[in-house]
Amino acid sequence: MYEFKTLNRKNTASAKWERPKDQVGREDYLVFSVADSDYETAPEIKEALQRRVKHGAFGYTYADDEYFDAVKSWMDRRHGLSVEKHWILPAPKVLTSMSMMIQAFTTQKDKIAIQTPVYNVFFDVVNQSGRELVENPLLDEGGYTMDFAHLEKCFQDGVKMLFLCSPHNPVGRVWKEEELRKLVELCKRYDVYLVSDEIHADLIMPGHTFVSTGAFFEEYEKILVVNAPSKTFNIAGLHTANVFVFDPKLRRALKKTMRKNFLGTPNVLALLACKSAYEKCDDWVDAQNAHIQSNYELVKSFMAENIPEARVTTLEGTYLLWIDLRAFGVSGEQIYQGLMAQGVVVGEGKKYKPQCDGFIRLNVACSKEQLLEGLRRMDTYFEALRA
Ligand SMILES: Cc1ncc(COP(=O)(O)O)c(C=O)c1O
Repeated sequence: MYEFKTLNRKNTASAKWERPKDQVGREDYLVFSVADSDYETAPEIKEALQRRVKHGAFGYTYADDEYFDAVKSWMDRRHGLSVEKHWILPAPKVLTSMSMMIQAFTTQKDKIAIQTPVYNVFFDVVNQSGRELVENPLLDEGGYTMDFAHLEKCFQDGVKMLFLCSPHNPVGRVWKEEELRKLVELCKRYDVYLVSDEIHADLIMPGHTFVSTGAFFEEYEKILVVNAPSKTFNIAGLHTANVFVFDPKLRRALKKTMRKNFLGTPNVLALLACKSAYEKCDDWVDAQNAHIQSNYELVKSFMAENIPEARVTTLEGTYLLWIDLRAFGVSGEQIYQGLMAQGVVVGEGKKYKPQCDGFIRLNVACSKEQLLEGLRRMDTYFEALRA
């Protein structure tokens, strides 16, 4: 019913498509790096925005009851999580929310842990706040898992807050309930704030079930959850996120910090897009997940046949493939530049952890045609590399 067709995003001030333009130096380049999608958002969202644009007034806006109802209902329907409306705080961005949590609940030089390889901006959010970054590397033993033993050592060493990426960008894990339970227990034992970034929560592949860390709210009050419709619906440029805080004291403290930073009034179009997404777009999300799964299968079969050196990590969630190309025995920089010369821009592994040089992150939220053309060009490069 829904088609995920190629959308030309060149010359639209798209950060994904404009930023690499000069570096690539050819007109027919294709981008598979930044995490937004290359097809239109859901038709229901477009229609709601078009109606509002026709109305013509874009004054200050507040989060009305419709917004809280829409978010509550989405969490219940899609994630089996029952939240009270007053637990929800609207925010412009997931990263801004995390930055506010750092301000509200930690002080200078406090330690904040992240589990690498991870979304590269997590490093910046911590480092720019003047807090100390602590790494708990994921274990890669034929599938990524959390290293609980090392994490406990980090906690014993005084970590105050942990950023969980759930589902995990870039390794594509959808954390299982028992893994989350173990994590919550550990955070509780050491009194560590558990910040769960669930921006990719709606992008779940068949056979996997997403569990929000919010499922443990009643068991541990220092859990903070943030999600957003931005990745799911290709509306990251509108700036909208939802924060969930169960504990009234923590909620008051976070609200105060957000007010101090003048984050009280949401973007009028963002709020509307969020409401429409959560009220009307379940079918579109299901269709998109099927499309992503089919693109993932295309990459796997293409690689198995043409680039067998590549190890494609199992995709449980997100639309980001994590591919190990170290078998070629050349640097990540050489691969990145070699692909660029073919007009293919990918995410370089070392951005997500310096030791992941030789991995790439490939965004498959695009049309099948675009993906296939990208794969053919990759094949051309690796064929030459082998020779
Ligand atoms: C895990 C994760 N968190 C946060 C963000 C950024 O979210 P926002 O633009 O809402 O700050 C991204 C974007 O790629 C992401 O992948």
